Amino acid sequence: MPSDILFPEDFVWGAATAAYQIEGGHEEGGRGPSIWDTFSHTPGKINNGDTGDVACDHYHRWRDDIALMGELGLQAYRFSIAWPRIFPTGSGRPNTEGLDYYKRLVESLLAAGIEPFVTLYHWDLPQALQDRGGWANRDTVSRCGEYAHTLARALGDGVHNWITHNEPWVVAFLGNLTGEHAPGGRDLATALQVSHHLLLSHGEATEALRAEAREGDRVGITLNLQPVEPASDSAADRDAARLYDGYLNRWFLDPLFRGSYPQDMLEWYGEHAPDIRSGDLERITVPLDFLGVNYYTRAIVRHASTSVPVQAAEVKPDGRKYTEMGWEVYPRGLYDLLGRVHAEYSTSALYITENGAAFPDTLHEGKVEDPQRRSYIHEHLLEAYRAIEDGVPLKGYFVWSLLDNFEWAHGYSKRFGLVYVDYPTQTRIIKASGRWYASVTRENAVPA
Ligand code: FCB
Repeated sequence: MPSDILFPEDFVWGAATAAYQIEGGHEEGGRGPSIWDTFSHTPGKINNGDTGDVACDHYHRWRDDIALMGELGLQAYRFSIAWPRIFPTGSGRPNTEGLDYYKRLVESLLAAGIEPFVTLYHWDLPQALQDRGGWANRDTVSRCGEYAHTLARALGDGVHNWITHNEPWVVAFLGNLTGEHAPGGRDLATALQVSHHLLLSHGEATEALRAEAREGDRVGITLNLQPVEPASDSAADRDAARLYDGYLNRWFLDPLFRGSYPQDMLEWYGEHAPDIRSGDLERITVPLDFLGVNYYTRAIVRHASTSVPVQAAEVKPDGRKYTEMGWEVYPRGLYDLLGRVHAEYSTSALYITENGAAFPDTLHEGKVEDPQRRSYIHEHLLEAYRAIEDGVPLKGYFVWSLLDNFEWAHGYSKRFGLVYVDYPTQTRIIKASGRWYASVTRENAVPA
């Protein structure tokens, strides 16, 4: 590649997936139902009535998928464990068949020279735990600790990078306030209590993982973070931006790094604020080995008196570029965000654990040309590099996603993959963006 920008030698190049979005095999290997099985089987919840029953059939095709990772030159692969494969009824004895499945996956990844980054919870809570109140029930925190312990014992020989949670904001608020995600609740106090229990379970899971840890093992958490900007200079819009930032970002960053919830948000939530017991914050603020950041876009907000839970509404200015999700393409936001997080929270290490874009893809003569996705990734990598130059300890980058997959409430209508999946035949085709990314991973460099 001519005039390349060379990344640090130890920079990690990867791609990410999540169990429910790719595995399928929903009734195989002793797997129990998760809240996403229930939700996706509820009419009206998912676009086109899609479910994750089959998804990318990765449960059966994982060997081929590891071969694809090899073709893409991945050094790391971020995937999640399906909790209901390990604890089909939420508690009791772990399901050996489930553990064996992931043991084989981990061993095969290592044999292919690919480092596993394992997420414990990417949203598929065992339905049996939901039946007992789910994340709103404090007992689920202990169940999560047991689950972490079980995984550390079974997979700890091969897995050295653990991510406790993926995007607790999404779990808490889309799952329990807006109702867009499983379990589909619509209550602010519940959503806030869930957010607290998720953070507490991060502390609990971290302790459990560390109790079994080998030298050099690392534990982190992944947050979805967005820079928030006011739509205008008015005091009302600026205040809306502050609250929206509190809601999205600080509500999670502050307890994790500072051992306290932001005071302005506690006041704002008032009587809806969660029950926080003595000692909880100490457990949440256990030192992290790294922070995972999922970055897709920024938020521009205006004051909106009827919006919940904060009086702020996102605006989408005309004349900007948007992905098929309706998310503004704003690479500069990644630079701003990484700089801010590092400056305000003194992170020891950061990974971009997700970044990528959905654009309509078409298969033409056996090929998928997706220049928009390629330039999205390219531009974000240039901004990531600028952050590194400024001294941000950014250690790696994972494209969302390895494969086109079940995009939650959007079903299969949104394609994020570096690899195209023809669902009826389950054929995989590496997109042009994937071929390009393979040159990046191999050269450890991007074109300037
Ligand atoms: C993130 C999720 C991931 C995927 C991308 C597009 O919020 O973590 O599973 O759906 O968005």
